[in-house]
Amino acid sequence: MALILDGREVARKIRQELKKEIGGYLQRGMRNPALAVVLVGDDPASKVYVENKRKACKEVGINSMVFNLPENTSQQEITDLIGKFNGDPEIDGILVQLPLPSHINTQEIIETISPEKDVDGFHPENMGKLATGKSDGVIPCTPLGIWIMLKHYKIQTFKKDVVVVGASNIVGKPMALLFLKNEEAPVSVCHINTKDLKSYTTRADILIVAVGKPKLITAEMVKEGAVVVDVGINRLEDGRLVGDVDFETLKDKVSAITPVPGGVGPMTVATLLLNTVNAYRKKHGFPPHPLTQV
Ligand code: GUN
Repeated sequence: MALILDGREVARKIRQELKKEIGGYLQRGMRNPALAVVLVGDDPASKVYVENKRKACKEVGINSMVFNLPENTSQQEITDLIGKFNGDPEIDGILVQLPLPSHINTQEIIETISPEKDVDGFHPENMGKLATGKSDGVIPCTPLGIWIMLKHYKIQTFKKDVVVVGASNIVGKPMALLFLKNEEAPVSVCHINTKDLKSYTTRADILIVAVGKPKLITAEMVKEGAVVVDVGINRLEDGRLVGDVDFETLKDKVSAITPVPGGVGPMTVATLLLNTVNAYRKKHGFPPHPLTQV
């Protein structure tokens, strides 16, 4: 049976640490870190994610304000709101929950957020810093959460063959860039137009899957002893939550695997907290949290 990479447990430890840190700031008479969250429309999954983020902020002492705008909100209304947050010295971080409704130009919204307040790390300036190996940018939450979890479990990454399935701006691309940093490991990125997915996945020492397709990865597609990280969160018709990986058939073949739920999801939220506290630290002239120094 594989080692189960327990994201809930690692995330809990990070929250505990941040709660203590923020408590220290308050004792010194400083204000709480603050995060503005923008949610447009009524997507049920997005609502759950935003609620999880709000709860986690509350637990550690980050003041979060959730702005739930109607589905028909215009591009201008969203950019105006972000402009207000950009200019507010009491707000450290801004998060716009994705996906946005189809009439909205998502990239333009992302580029409106001030890079110092971009706690998602999606702004081209932060993405560019990650791509060029600079260490003072913000790293997107899910890839950073996966990285921290691998390090927590002392999983070796140096020189390992890494395969990332899914090439999104949110997960796949920044994940690949993290492994490329300092020539840590060679990475293959697969996506919808990859002709022979299995020929890649069977080579992987570390396989990261972020596609959104239940049971995309089956036992014959992985190498014995591989480390498998499942980013997918899919709701089946019977209401069950499953990942992109067929956990039951893989768990006896691989050396370590993340469960769904309870693997990557809680880590994404924990790294959002880290990125928000980092924005606050930077504003106050403090160095970034060591866990985010990749
Ligand atoms: N939607 C899915 N994942 C994310 C994320 O990490 N950040 C934001 N803003 N939206 C998302």
